[in-house]
Amino acid sequence: MPVKPEDMPFLDHNGHPIPLYSPEGFDALSQLWMQVGWSVGYPFAQSWMGFPLIQFPQDVMRMQNLITQEQPTLIIETGVSGGGSMAMYAHLALVYGGARVVGIEKTLRPQQMQALAAHPILGPHITVIQGDSTDPAILPILRAHTQPQDWQRVCVVLDSSHRYDHVLKELRLYGPLVTVGSFVMVMDGALKDMAHVPNGKPRWETDNPHRAVQEFLQESPAFVLDTQDMHPPYTFIQNNTLKIKRLDG
Ligand SMILES: C[S@@+](CC[C@H](N)C(=O)[O-])C[C@H]1O[C@@H](n2cnc3c(N)ncnc32)[C@H](O)[C@@H]1O
Repeated sequence: MPVKPEDMPFLDHNGHPIPLYSPEGFDALSQLWMQVGWSVGYPFAQSWMGFPLIQFPQDVMRMQNLITQEQPTLIIETGVSGGGSMAMYAHLALVYGGARVVGIEKTLRPQQMQALAAHPILGPHITVIQGDSTDPAILPILRAHTQPQDWQRVCVVLDSSHRYDHVLKELRLYGPLVTVGSFVMVMDGALKDMAHVPNGKPRWETDNPHRAVQEFLQESPAFVLDTQDMHPPYTFIQNNTLKIKRLDG
């Protein structure tokens, strides 16, 4: 049954009603949609070409725009899970000639990894390395799985553990691999908004990727938070995928 606007009045911090049919109303509705969607596991219902993809669809839209516009030659992702995001990157990169996609995952899902490796079109572009993404010993293994030409335009997606200290370690380890003008995408920034929803953890208010990004930006002047491609500005993806752009060497 459709919900009528008058059934769901939103109030701002001062207790004043927010008109539903407005950018502000959409923003409030989107925040709520994301919180409820997250609590019922909506991101777990997604897939790319049959490979499980744990994302909100709007974040997938943003990623496909980024990948096809920035055209990285090497995409490094921490946190592979069922491989759907790697499949998506490899698939989209075929539009501009292909990219090497390297994932780092602590707990491999053998069945899905075998299916990914055996895929006739995507498989040859994809490498998965088993290990803790914060282990510096990963870097030489990563290099060994790539060719010099792969390193022309490098982007990084951090989507493993979303704990503050883990993300900060990853930013310090993988940030320097990003080429000038390219980006690091830090996923699940919205965790801080999920601290008090069902299945959330109160510690997420402070133990979250946002905090790691803020600290990394303070210590790394070559990087800035880039929100240029986020339009319209009132969608709920705003806090979820944090794009950090590398400005100079
Ligand atoms: C959110 S899922 C990744 C989702 C995937 N990128 C996607 O879009 O479908 C997080 C993954 O990170 C992995 N992970 C957690 N801690 C890790 C660590 N320290 N090193 C590597 N992988 C880790 C988990 O096993 C899990 O598969």
